[in-house]
Amino acid sequence: MRRLDRLATHSDDPDRLTRTYLGAAQKKAHEDVLGWMREAGMTARLDAVGNVVGRYEGAQPGAPALLLGSHLDTVRDAGRYDGMLGVIAGIECVEALGRAGKRLPFAVEVIGFADEEGVRFPVNFIGSRAVIGTLDGAALAAKDAAGTSMAEALRAAGFDPARVGQAARKPSEVLAYVELHIEQGPVLEAGGLALGVVDAIAGSTRLSVELTGEAGHAGTVPMKARRDALATAAECVLAVERRASAPGLVGTVGRIECLPGAINVIPGKVRFSVDLRSGDDGLRKAAIADVEREFAAIAARRKVGLAISTIHDGKACACSPWLMERIGRAIESQGQKRFDLPSGAGHDGMTMIGLCDIGMMFVRCKHGVSHNPAEAMTMDDAEIATRALLRLIEEFEPGSRRT
Ligand code: GLV
Ligand code: MN
Ligand code: MN
Repeated sequence: MRRLDRLATHSDDPDRLTRTYLGAAQKKAHEDVLGWMREAGMTARLDAVGNVVGRYEGAQPGAPALLLGSHLDTVRDAGRYDGMLGVIAGIECVEALGRAGKRLPFAVEVIGFADEEGVRFPVNFIGSRAVIGTLDGAALAAKDAAGTSMAEALRAAGFDPARVGQAARKPSEVLAYVELHIEQGPVLEAGGLALGVVDAIAGSTRLSVELTGEAGHAGTVPMKARRDALATAAECVLAVERRASAPGLVGTVGRIECLPGAINVIPGKVRFSVDLRSGDDGLRKAAIADVEREFAAIAARRKVGLAISTIHDGKACACSPWLMERIGRAIESQGQKRFDLPSGAGHDGMTMIGLCDIGMMFVRCKHGVSHNPAEAMTMDDAEIATRALLRLIEEFEPGSRRT
C-alpha cells in the first residue's frame, strides 16, 4: 500500500493523478517499479514500447512464464489502485517466493503495461497490443492532442518506433496471463466478499466524432441561420445516453472539445468521444449502428458535417474456465467464498487473449468507485488478495489452452 501511495505521487498534473503513456511521470513510476522488481529478485527491463517487464526464473532457466500484471498508466484525475495494484501485488508475490528460496517449474513474469487506458493517444491497450504483436503502423501514426505522433513520442522517450515489434512475445513463451484488479464496481462490497473470480470482460467500441458547423458572431447571426456544432453535439450526446439506456448496455461521452471555444463565437467545430460497452457483442454492434444512424440524421437536419472514426472495437472476452477454477481455489484457500462476476471495465486480458488464456481476480473496492481520486480499498483486502495470488502461483499447473 505504501508503494501504491508512492506511485500516486508521479503525475503529469501537479494537483491530481494523471499519468499517461510516455510522459515524464511515467518514467519516474517505471524507475520505481524496475527497482522494486530487482529488489524482489527479478531481472527487470523496459521492453520496446516501455512496458516494465520483470522475470523470476523457474527451476530451469528459460522456462515458459506465468504472466502476472496490469497497467501503470492512469486516467485523468485517477485513483491509485486501478492497474497499479496488479503490478505491485505481483512483485510482492515474487518477493515472497524469493524469500522462501522457492523456484517453480515455470518462470513468473510481472508486466506493468505502459498504456491500457488510451488517454494520451486515440489508441488503447498500447502495451498489451505490443506484447501480442499487433501494434501496427496506424497506431504509431496516431497523434495526441498536441499533434505528436506515437512514433515521435517513442523517439523522444528514447525508444525506436521501428522496433516495437521486439516487444512481441511468442505463445510458446507463456503459460497464461493472470491479472489482479480492483473490481471498480459495487458487487463484491454489496455481497460482503473481499475477492471474486472474473468470468468475462465486456466488449467495447470507442468512436471519435467530429462535427463541422460554421463559426460566427454570437450577436449577429439569427438562430435559424446557424450551423452550431456544439448544439448538434448536445443532441448526439443525449442520443447516446438514450440508446445505451437499453438493458445490457452502457454508453458514455467522456470527452468533448469545442472550437474555437470563445464565449461570443458560435461553435464551428466539435470533437467528442463515444464509449459504448456490453457483455453481448450483438447488442453492442446494434447500438453502435443505431447511434451512428442517429448522429447522421441529427447532423443532416442541422446541416452540420459529420465524420466518425472507430478507434477501438473489442469483443467481449471470456476468462478460461481452467484458470477460473484455479483462481477460485486460491480464493477459497484464504477462507473466502468463490464468487464469479463479469467485468464491465476493460482490461489488458482482452488483448492478451490473442496470445494465451487469461484469468482475473477482482478485489473489493470502496463503494465501487473508480476512475475517480476517491478510489479506495483496505489494507486487509490488499493482503488477502495478494495471499490468494501467491497461492495461485505456488499451486499453478498449466491447463489446456482453449480451442
Ligand atoms: C479501462 O479502465 C476501461 O475500461 O476503459
Ligand atoms: Mn481504468
Ligand atoms: Mn485498469
